[in-house]
Amino acid sequence: MSARISITRTSNSRLPDLDFDNIPFGAAFSDHMFIAEYNGNKWENARIVPFGNISVHPACFALHYGQAIFEGMKASKSHDGKPMLFRPEMHAKRINASAQRMCMPDFPEDLFVEALHLLVGLDHAWIPPQEGSALYIRPFMFACDEYFGVRPGDKYLFMIYTGPVGPYYSKPVRLRAELEYVRAVPGGTGEAKAAGNYGGAILATEKAKAAGFDQVMWMDGHEFRYVQEVGTMNIFFVIDGKVVTPKTDGSILKGITRNSIMTILRERGYEVEEKLVDIHELIAASEAGKLQEAFGAGTAAVIAPISEIVYKDKVMKLPPVEAFKIAGLAKAEINGLRSGRVVDERGWVVPVQALEPAGV
Ligand code: COI
Repeated sequence: MSARISITRTSNSRLPDLDFDNIPFGAAFSDHMFIAEYNGNKWENARIVPFGNISVHPACFALHYGQAIFEGMKASKSHDGKPMLFRPEMHAKRINASAQRMCMPDFPEDLFVEALHLLVGLDHAWIPPQEGSALYIRPFMFACDEYFGVRPGDKYLFMIYTGPVGPYYSKPVRLRAELEYVRAVPGGTGEAKAAGNYGGAILATEKAKAAGFDQVMWMDGHEFRYVQEVGTMNIFFVIDGKVVTPKTDGSILKGITRNSIMTILRERGYEVEEKLVDIHELIAASEAGKLQEAFGAGTAAVIAPISEIVYKDKVMKLPPVEAFKIAGLAKAEINGLRSGRVVDERGWVVPVQALEPAGV
């Protein structure tokens, strides 16, 4: 039992209503959530309570000025039933990097990790057992000052809720290189996991979907020539045996799955280059039959194979997903780590600490 986090357990678990064989992405929420409050100079009143609505003032800063950031992470169950977190410290650091960009207070990393252990420990029965499914964890922070003017907030809420999820994409994705709208430019907020980055992306995504695509491939905002990311994921290509991913420049999210994939592949001896990825290089590789794989990488999607990329009138068709040796290898290792079938030599997989919550 944590001295810093009080726990009030639900007396009415919704778990019996969950159909583990039919979990849509993002529509199921576990029984509890974590909340802490920032009141000008320190985080306080850290607590776990039954999941439910919260009430905010109509002038709540985040609703008007977008001081809102989040994380996406996952907990899984090992093949012998132990709940595990994936790289929690890295997520704790990344939310603070986002906080700094958005002029918000840091959230103590140790409290972030402790809250995850307690919350996931309490709701571990919500973790789906199937490989490829997981408990999605959504930490987020937003300014809740009640004030008209624009300035950094004084008051914030930091919360974490969770929900069981199945796969994000059920089939390989078709992408359209976006040539009208821009997700981010260096100096903007693209590297932060800021709520507005996602809101700003919806129109382009909906237009691409209406044209028959699954997602957009974001391009740089100056020349629409260099690839940034895809939809809500980072992107990787395999060109003539070499793994290539856009280098981060302030406009691209520093994905934790991206980092994991690069590490795994480099350790396996693959050459992985972070660089400016020129669309003309991709077209030339595709025409020469050297564009062997393309895949998105993110917490929600893990690894999402790409079947086709369209840039103006050029159609780059990828080989069938069965031929994606490198994506397959990285996905198998990440899923294997999450299920405990692959030995974790890097300290990425953290068993959830045993919890005997005392209700308050
Ligand atoms: C994630 O992959 O966790 C994300 O944050 C993307 C999300 C918007 C579904």
